[in-house]
Amino acid sequence: MKEVKCHWSHGTVLVCANERDPASGKAFCGHESGVSLRNWMKERRNKDGLKGKVLVSVASCLGVCPNKGTVVAITANGSSAEPEVLLVDPENEREELWQEVTERLNLAECIIIEDVADP
Ligand code: FES
Repeated sequence: MKEVKCHWSHGTVLVCANERDPASGKAFCGHESGVSLRNWMKERRNKDGLKGKVLVSVASCLGVCPNKGTVVAITANGSSAEPEVLLVDPENEREELWQEVTERLNLAECIIIEDVADP
């Protein structure tokens, strides 16, 4: 085993994209909604100039398994605090989730706001 340096400075966001056979009768978050939310968050992160600050990735089951919604875990680098685990509506709570990520990972001071030139 060899330790390697991570390429994100502030933390990690894991979005559950676990899919189950509906015939199993067990609840799950869902692959399509999880991947869609992950992709949106990566675009939002990059738009804010935060690439390299936070890793956003999909995960398999995070152990919550809701009947409706997507489970997201936010973990700050170097923190001894437990991850923040949220159940979100993957379509309607995206922006609210992103605000939570930036607060939890102290990213506000890192956000790049592009100057808008006067017409
Ligand atoms: S299926 Fe998403 S937390 Fe278990």
